Amino acid sequence: MKQDMIVILDLGSHENTVVARAIRALGVYSEIYPHDITAEELKALPNVKGIIINGGPNNVIDGVAIDVNPDIYNAGFPVMAAGHDKALCQTKLAQFTNDENAVKEAVKSFVFETCKAEANWNMANFVNDQIELVRKQVGDRKVLLALSGGVDSSVVAALLLKAIGNNLVCVHVNHGLMRKGESENVVEVFRNRLSANLVYVDATDRFLDKLAGVGDPEQKRKIIGGEFIRVFEEEARKLDGIDFLGQGTIYPDIVESGTKTAKMVKSHHNVGGLPEDMQFELVEPIKQLFKDEVRACGLELGLPYEMVFRQPFPGPGLGVRCLGAITRDRLEAVRESDAILREEFAKAGLDKKVWQYFTIVPDFKSVGVKDNARSYDWPVIIRAVNTIDAMTATIEQVDWPILMKITDRILKEVDGVNRVCYDMSPKPSATIEWE
Ligand code: XMP
Repeated sequence: MKQDMIVILDLGSHENTVVARAIRALGVYSEIYPHDITAEELKALPNVKGIIINGGPNNVIDGVAIDVNPDIYNAGFPVMAAGHDKALCQTKLAQFTNDENAVKEAVKSFVFETCKAEANWNMANFVNDQIELVRKQVGDRKVLLALSGGVDSSVVAALLLKAIGNNLVCVHVNHGLMRKGESENVVEVFRNRLSANLVYVDATDRFLDKLAGVGDPEQKRKIIGGEFIRVFEEEARKLDGIDFLGQGTIYPDIVESGTKTAKMVKSHHNVGGLPEDMQFELVEPIKQLFKDEVRACGLELGLPYEMVFRQPFPGPGLGVRCLGAITRDRLEAVRESDAILREEFAKAGLDKKVWQYFTIVPDFKSVGVKDNARSYDWPVIIRAVNTIDAMTATIEQVDWPILMKITDRILKEVDGVNRVCYDMSPKPSATIEWE
């Protein structure tokens, strides 16, 4: 990193990431560190121009009030204390108020006037820096990457490809629970357009066989996660001379587990690691980026817009939307109805507005009429939600004509379906997914 950096010390604020992002939005790089970092550790960080001590309601751990290491005030950096009323520092003290603009102005003047930081942090520089760092770390050895087609793994793939070309080996495991066209798109973009070294594994039958008859949602997740690792491991063992594993770790993953006062709110859903006997060094080129920066990085690297702005999609894929024991016919109904929903949302411009939208097919049937005869078929449930952090969510109030068009198409085009419903439930009481 050649860029100037402002260090934020987490003294129990909920707003650390907000402040870090605000500083980055000014074009100055910023990172969050635990409150008890030492002066030596601070001095060892590259290009630190100033420190913001960010105090807040979580500044008591196990009944004891926490404070920063007093040495840091003598480490030679300008210090600004925010929401931290013990006026220990001599250099500069600003009380954060509820006035957002005043806060922004105070931070801006601290960053540029007090610290004299240069606004030289942007995606082009970031990409160039990372390419250089990856080359230094990896040399002419090989990196293996599980390329799911999600935003993070796609951006890592594009970045590593720029850095090390065909020494990057991507493995895409199609577990048969992908959305329509998604695996094909990964192959098209990475193998055909970007000439990446991509191993494509169609493991559909293997996953669906393992899942046959399993109705319990947690059991389904476990099988999908476990099988994913086994398939990936088998592919990895076939490859020779791999020393590194690429990972799409992003900054919130690090901040959540890395500071002392942040509370664990969300248990991580993502598939776990590889067995211990397979030892790789990690390459994590986007680990300093927030999600919106990851997307900007993807665009900088030339990835298609749809890939970079893809809506969130759970690791177990359509498996948690084909409720109960997965059957191939219902799985197809989920996939086809989801494709119709996505198409119609895009036509209506809702794809850019709604955070997550998908369809669910439950494992019960209802009575209907088709061609003047009684039918007994599956319902499709539509869900469209908005959220900031996925902890709570509200439903999107989709206009009736759009919903009616989608309903009409699903009933006409999707086999085995005779009813369409709209899920009105916010989170809580519901979760976003149904399983
Ligand atoms: P819930 O259903 O818990 O979902 O309200 C919150 C968000 O997390 C996504 N989700 C997952 N993501 N692996 C993932 O990578 C999973 O197993 C998983 N389960 C839920 C969900 O789509 C929503 O965005």
